Amino acid sequence: MNNLEKTSKLPGFYKLPVKERLKIIKDFAGLTREETDAIEKNGSLSIFAANNMIENVIGTYELPLGIACNFLINNKEYLIPMATEEPSVVAAASNSAKIIRQSGGFFTNSTKPIMIGQIQFSGIKNISHSKQIILENKQKLLDYANEQGILVQFGGGAKEIEVKIIPTQHFGDLLVVHLFVDCCDAMGANAVNTICEAVSVKIKEFLKQGTIGFRIISNLATERLVRSRATIKKELLKEDTINKILMGYEFASNDAYRAATHNKGIMNGIVAATLACGNDTRAVEAGAHSWASISGKYLPLTKYEKDNIGNLCISIELPLALGIVGGSTKVHPIAQANLKIIGAKTARELAEVFASLGLAQNFAALRAIATEGIQKGHMKLHSRNIAISAGAKNEEQIIKIVSQMTEEKNISLKKAKEIFEKMQEKGFEPSNL
Ligand code: MEV
Repeated sequence: MNNLEKTSKLPGFYKLPVKERLKIIKDFAGLTREETDAIEKNGSLSIFAANNMIENVIGTYELPLGIACNFLINNKEYLIPMATEEPSVVAAASNSAKIIRQSGGFFTNSTKPIMIGQIQFSGIKNISHSKQIILENKQKLLDYANEQGILVQFGGGAKEIEVKIIPTQHFGDLLVVHLFVDCCDAMGANAVNTICEAVSVKIKEFLKQGTIGFRIISNLATERLVRSRATIKKELLKEDTINKILMGYEFASNDAYRAATHNKGIMNGIVAATLACGNDTRAVEAGAHSWASISGKYLPLTKYEKDNIGNLCISIELPLALGIVGGSTKVHPIAQANLKIIGAKTARELAEVFASLGLAQNFAALRAIATEGIQKGHMKLHSRNIAISAGAKNEEQIIKIVSQMTEEKNISLKKAKEIFEKMQEKGFEPSNL
């Protein structure tokens, strides 16, 4: 598929058989046979690879992998793989992206991929003095950090140092050095931790006192921010819907109970894509939620406002520590294929795509809750799961159970089992659709 005809707008994609969907994705991303095999076949993560990823391995664990369609970001077409157990999430993201592309799509920006490593010292007598000694030796420390050879060859490495004094209840004042490290295309935890461990020893040499304590990356990645925005033309939504969405946003902005759920919806998208790309979902979650409360009040990660002519303007800003190299991105064959499907050339581009996905996910949730309620769409998809739990073995049986439950307005496992049992009694023969 050449670039001119490359589009993420795939009408009817959801209706296709799985094999045909994969064929479309293969053509879009130029996947190899090995890559499509990995996606298609169970157990694509070999026990050998798994056993080298974590400890005490007894097998591998699988999740559905779906594709969010319709994403137009900075005028580039993206398909976004998502690994999740939750029904509706992929459909919701695709629907939002479809509406947003009619208004020009998403526009993004981001900071450099700088992570902060923390080096903590205790037992320092003249702490203000010590702070200055570290700052006086800043360049020497940065040079030493970069001699570790990690990241510098890619144009990254340690760039800046900051020193903080943190009072504690039982251990007096701690002296904490923040090392700002440009992680380039890596998530950076390993590189930052290695640098921090090395530099701590050098700092101690300058201080000639104190005890080295914690040396570890911070997941509150305030220097690795990513932003995405979209304008939704007022013609695409009813005015009443726009107003209800805005009210829902203000609700979240003033109530932590609602804000937590608002942000959970955003992370439905971001975490699913993070997982699909073999990245660290916990780092992303920790960063997002700590950022949401950085003002001292837990706030929504997105913002909603109207422009001067009544269009709905939506935006998101959050830290996203993602990598396209290192970690399990290279070990997990499906993670590699998924990164190829997205086609991000840098970790920053990947983060910008994920931020747009989070924004789309949030808009979908707010729109649904502001109009028909979330359960209608959710239950429609969930009812298929219920039918399968009740015993349905093929598409024909699923459709029969789902339509009867919908007709009787009773979507429950009890009802599904009742219908399934009746079907069995009547000798319902699956026709191997
Ligand atoms: C469900 O997984 C996510 C939502 O609750 C998000 C929200 O309420 O904004 C629908």
